[in-house]
Amino acid sequence: MPLPLNDREIVVGVTGSIAAYKVADWVRSLRRDGARVTVIMTAAGARFVSPLTFAALSGSRVHTGMFDATAPETIPHIDLARRCALLLVAPATATTIARLAHGLADDLLATVALATEAPVMVCPAMNSKMFLHPATTANLATLRGHGYRVVEPASGNMACGEEGPGRLAEWETVRHAILATFAAQDLAGRAVLVTAGPTREPLDPVRFLSNRSTGKMGYAVAAAASQRGARVTLVSGPTDLAAPPGVEMIRITTALEMHQAVLDRASEMDVVVKAAAVSDFRPAEQASHKLKKATTTATIALAANPDILLTLGERRGNRPCPLLVGFAAESREHLNEGRRKLRAKNLDLMVVNDITASDCGFAVDTNRVTLLDRNDAVEELPLLTKDETAHRIWNRIVKLLKD
Ligand code: CTP
Repeated sequence: MPLPLNDREIVVGVTGSIAAYKVADWVRSLRRDGARVTVIMTAAGARFVSPLTFAALSGSRVHTGMFDATAPETIPHIDLARRCALLLVAPATATTIARLAHGLADDLLATVALATEAPVMVCPAMNSKMFLHPATTANLATLRGHGYRVVEPASGNMACGEEGPGRLAEWETVRHAILATFAAQDLAGRAVLVTAGPTREPLDPVRFLSNRSTGKMGYAVAAAASQRGARVTLVSGPTDLAAPPGVEMIRITTALEMHQAVLDRASEMDVVVKAAAVSDFRPAEQASHKLKKATTTATIALAANPDILLTLGERRGNRPCPLLVGFAAESREHLNEGRRKLRAKNLDLMVVNDITASDCGFAVDTNRVTLLDRNDAVEELPLLTKDETAHRIWNRIVKLLKD
């Protein structure tokens, strides 16, 4: 199964901050995503975490100095600069940021940064007063001017006891920025709305009707669009998932709330992808107090919820309308059901999956889907991660947008 960073070599520059220990785990994650990782440590970096730790986690020798080549015929800084697909400087101290901003080639990391043509990403981590000092602000502005990507630090309680900006960014934010660096920016300038997760239809203050959707597929679709440069709004039912970085989150609970949230925004969108598992019905009555078994009947009267995609499909006419993409999770006759829903709801693309397979559907990280379009073209995708499936869906949507 293709991984997002398959065969890319990422050079990680670790500098002298207490946050260096967090980057040890980032190295593992990069490798899990398929990357080859080589670590350069500055002298100060190597005092916080042993190079041995990074060697074990990266699976290759750690470079600590300009003149420590085991094979002197290769020039280490030029070799690393040529090999790397991305130079990730994390954690980046004020000193290293100043060194990079001024082009001082007095250690291996700064020399590789000067010599490489690969993108350079800098993740500052330092005391908040140092971060907010005009010298650091000016140096970061210089780096941005050189085309370096600066991943803003988070705010919060720091190791030095102070509060404020300067904490190393969270890995999910940095990973998202790395994937965006490698993604085609073919959705730049586009606005897309994605829905995800289940809806919950309350019966009383403690009980609700819902379904098994975890939101994983929809969140993957939203994250992939954001990596490809889109402005993404994610309308999500209740899930356990963190908001994908860079995405505007609208949290809703019921189908009626999702209906409102989508219809309020649909006209500003280029694409609407409805990956949510919307409850078709809600309890006709919502009790304001907890129902008691002694006084409750054994049946629940239901009222139909509006079909959000159908409403959007029916509104299509001569006016500009977003491209409409639906999902159909089926347990039988999945292609026929997908076709029926594509026509009934007047969609451009339907993503169909068979939820009876154990590697597809709810709560797993993989999916195998078939894409159906208005012209009856059928594209069967292989078993892929949900992230990769999301990118394949966008590949198809990008083609439809061009047409
Ligand atoms: N959908 C929607 N509003 C609803 C129900 C479904 O927008 N009230 C959307 C879903 O988000 C999905 C598509 O319609 O993109 C298909 O949903 P699905 O539940 O598979 O189909 P239904 O239309 O509910 O049909 P059925 O119950 O017959 O399977």
